[in-house]
Amino acid sequence: MMSKVGILGLGIYLPSRRLTNFDLEKIADTTDEWIRTRTGIVERRIASPSERTSDLAIKAGQSALKDAKISGDKIDLIIVATISPDSNFPSMACRVQKAIGAAKAAAFDVSAACSGYLYAITTAKQYIQTGLYKNALIIAAERITNLIDWKDRSTCVLFGDGAGACVLGKVKTGGIKSEVLQSCGAQGDLMHVVPGTVRRPLETDGDGIIKLPYIVMHGKELFKAAVNSMAEAVQAALKKANLKTSQIDCIVPHQANDRIISAVAFKLKIPKEKIFVNINKYGNMSAASIAVALYEAVKSKRIRKGDHVVLVAFGAGLVSAANVIKW
Ligand code: ACO
Repeated sequence: MMSKVGILGLGIYLPSRRLTNFDLEKIADTTDEWIRTRTGIVERRIASPSERTSDLAIKAGQSALKDAKISGDKIDLIIVATISPDSNFPSMACRVQKAIGAAKAAAFDVSAACSGYLYAITTAKQYIQTGLYKNALIIAAERITNLIDWKDRSTCVLFGDGAGACVLGKVKTGGIKSEVLQSCGAQGDLMHVVPGTVRRPLETDGDGIIKLPYIVMHGKELFKAAVNSMAEAVQAALKKANLKTSQIDCIVPHQANDRIISAVAFKLKIPKEKIFVNINKYGNMSAASIAVALYEAVKSKRIRKGDHVVLVAFGAGLVSAANVIKW
């Protein structure tokens, strides 16, 4: 009989600076009305110039440890999901390890865009089930506004910065009932980061200007892929958990666009009220979206003990994922 693995505590960290749609009207060719009606976003958080992704990750991780009433030295696995790390290395997980004093923990990052939190949770679950590790700290942290071209209205209105985390360990009742991880690399070009150019001032053609990397995406195609793959992932995860759609108490989806969420609800024949939405406050925080939404759904008692909860994500890659959890 495999051990049951569940969530022992949740945490978040959100930068204090708010950027409203009205603020964006001043820097890009857009309007509050377009952003609200086409995406559901009203404002998003932006990290301060001195805040790095690892700073957001560490604060969210510490908040989850406090919630789980567990000290950092009891954590033996740390996974950080991010596509906007401070640098290629050291990993964000190693930076977290140092900050929380988890001296003996294994630590590594996962890159699965907006599905990263669920990829990380599913990865950690396997290690705990096999007995290799006991307590895992899973963090999703993004300073994704670093990758934005603020003159491109098709992307700059969508994203925000933030972080969320959970502590995973063995539980006696409930826990993660099923998991689905899907990927479709063939459609990877629908959303990618254009690499920045390196400064070469010593070369004759070098102009000394650093061009930063930035996100480009094909919104309409992604919209359709998001709806189809999230609905498919939910159905596959429910089947694995031997549950019917009518038994779901709450779905916590990736928050890319409120219209995508409504279309998934329609496709699954689930009332929208069963779906937790907070995109209005934060925009799309990539991997951190589900982590923050799950925290808020639990703390606001939209999710209660005994509930069947479905987490479902979709993102660049393309990658999608779902987990069914009995709370
Ligand atoms: N303000 C004003 N007008 C705009 C803006 C803006 N910010 N952006 C686009 N428009 C205009 C377009 O130019 C176009 O004008 P036209 O009709 O004169 O040509 C019109 O609005 C409609 O544009 P569409 O691109 O067709 O708008 P759409 O309704 O598809 O919404 C959006 C665009 C919000 C990007 C939507 O397609 C979407 O949410 N797609 C999915 C995004 C997603 O899921 N990304 C992946 C996850 S993120 C991750 O993995 C990190």
